[in-house]
Amino acid sequence: MSVQSTIKRKTAPDIRARKNAEPIVMLTSYHAHTAALVDRYCDVILVGDSLGNVMHGFETTVPVTLDMMILQGHAVMRGSQQALVVVDMPFGSYEASKEQAFHSAVRILKETLCGAVKLEGGERMAETIAFLSDRGIPVMGHIGLTPQSINTLGSFRAQGREEGSWEPIENDARAVAQAGAFSVVVEAIAEPLARKITETIDIPTIGIGASAACDGQVLVLEDMLGLSPRAPKFVRRYGNLGPMIEAAIEGYATDVRSRAFPGPEHVYGMKAKG
Ligand code: KIV
Repeated sequence: MSVQSTIKRKTAPDIRARKNAEPIVMLTSYHAHTAALVDRYCDVILVGDSLGNVMHGFETTVPVTLDMMILQGHAVMRGSQQALVVVDMPFGSYEASKEQAFHSAVRILKETLCGAVKLEGGERMAETIAFLSDRGIPVMGHIGLTPQSINTLGSFRAQGREEGSWEPIENDARAVAQAGAFSVVVEAIAEPLARKITETIDIPTIGIGASAACDGQVLVLEDMLGLSPRAPKFVRRYGNLGPMIEAAIEGYATDVRSRAFPGPEHVYGMKAKG
């Protein structure tokens, strides 16, 4: 007997078809419980390697491993039903060769059952993107600020601030699109450049700190919820959960210490002997 879900999950071609159409809504998630919430409103859920910063407290995404991405990718697949789940390829899992990238991406797809992978880099990754796409692996590109390159970039600065520095980023965008990526994240670039790229390439651009001129937007969930101690300046906070969570924990601790903590009689109807 075959088991079929009645809810159809979005696919990479569905997202590709959103060029010049309804804006793409994308958020990160790393857990089943947040995935279930995000899934109701988003077209794409990104299991970003930002989990290294957010969940594990690393300074950068460099220490994140393939096993960490697969574990959280699987959790997000279990928690969601309709969004396309894209899992980030972590630093060191794809840069050495297109074959290395293929083996890592196959592990991600088989072990999480997600619908696509994302990798950082433009022209330099074009051959790899084509290799994966030609072999049945949908790839989302990521250009502009590429946080995995922090050790060569030196800092997380916005890219392409002066018009004279646009060309390499425009070349990256074209290369990723021509290689067969189904969409591309453009991170921390100025509005005129984001607009120009979005108008030039035929796949959807998904901006983060790259203005409303893109075909969609992505944010790190914890940043927009006010849960990250250090969110980038461009992030608009849609909630301020940090103080709410702290107040709840404080209330619990106060109840325990003052012995006001509700006993099991609330549930079992037992009376304390006395
Ligand atoms: O890892 C991540 O969350 C990302 C987004 C910031 C685009 O790559």
